[in-house]
Amino acid sequence: MSRFWNRKINEIVPYVAGEQPRRGTKVIKLNTNENPFPPSPKVAESIAQFDIADLRLYPDTDATLVAEAIAAQEGVSPEQIFVGNGSDEVLALCFQTFFETRDNSVLPVLTPEFSYSFYPVFEEFYNIKAAKIPLHEEYRLDASDYVDVANCGICIANPNAPTSRAIALEDIALICRSNPDSVVIIDEAYAYFEEKYETAVSLLGQFPNLCVVRTLSKSYSLAGLRVGYAIASEELIEGLKRARDSFNSYPIDRLAQTAAAAAINDRKYHEICRVKIIEAREYTVRELTRLGFAMPESSANFVFAKPPAIISAETLYKNLRAKGILVRYFGTPGISDHLRIAIGTREEMEQFISQVEKEVTDVQDCNSCKEDQRD
Ligand SMILES: Cc1ncc(COP(=O)(O)O)c(C=O)c1O
Repeated sequence: MSRFWNRKINEIVPYVAGEQPRRGTKVIKLNTNENPFPPSPKVAESIAQFDIADLRLYPDTDATLVAEAIAAQEGVSPEQIFVGNGSDEVLALCFQTFFETRDNSVLPVLTPEFSYSFYPVFEEFYNIKAAKIPLHEEYRLDASDYVDVANCGICIANPNAPTSRAIALEDIALICRSNPDSVVIIDEAYAYFEEKYETAVSLLGQFPNLCVVRTLSKSYSLAGLRVGYAIASEELIEGLKRARDSFNSYPIDRLAQTAAAAAINDRKYHEICRVKIIEAREYTVRELTRLGFAMPESSANFVFAKPPAIISAETLYKNLRAKGILVRYFGTPGISDHLRIAIGTREEMEQFISQVEKEVTDVQDCNSCKEDQRD
């Protein structure tokens, strides 16, 4: 608290980012859903060839190089792309551009009950009324819950975080069709981690109210570059540019534009990494199931796992942390019995599983030792 801050800053509960250990600390880092593989070698090449003298000039506001690379890949026009400083910034601008503030409207923005924890922060920060729509068994989202609910907008992560579950394209179509006067944001931060992945981009031709948000942080291994984007109708994109130009006209620096375009254009490398992560996830799910964990089917580069009854999620999180393995524990009611575990390399996941097995066995041994003493 400070008397120099305004009321909003005094009252806001900001987003808490996952722990980033100090440089040089040796850990297995499975807590922030980053990609364990380095970015495409084309990224390094593009940075090596970058003319430093160009940094004296402001960058292209629309990051046209990046927008054109995305447009070519997705079969849309560059005017349908908005590039921002990470998808967090793109999402923040979406909330500011498409959703009404409490003063003008009493209609809420709908988001799933358990979802990306930045959404409620945006709602609070931009004074937007919010309604959380409950999930069902195993955190399943039912699209019919978003039909006939008065709202001024909808935001759904697909696959959802932290639950890892995805909904089908027909569900997204139903939500867009039933809410023609609201913008429906589909946050595809975790797109591509299914063998045959579906993307809501294919629905854009039918729904001018659909806005798909993506990031280069996950499948492109570029969390440190800070590049995210939205794909939508030209009308929605123009709105985002108006909001951007009322805040920061140059969100993507010149180096980031060059490197992002190089990563997007290296489709072969993207495919190789994506497949390796899916394989490592399958291994992790198999092994965690063997150890008594329960988890919904994951379509993302992480799993949302509930440990067996003998060890709580919190204890396991702390014990793993003490051994240099970081996973994410939220402690939020409704999900406090789960851990969110990012998928690393196969070797990292083998070390993770072997440590988890040790932790579970230690508790089992300790319990049977206590029983023996009682006998
Ligand atoms: C669902 C979801 N959306 C968006 C983001 C933000 O990604 P970035 O700002 O790195 O693009 C994250 C990050 O973890 C996320 O989990």
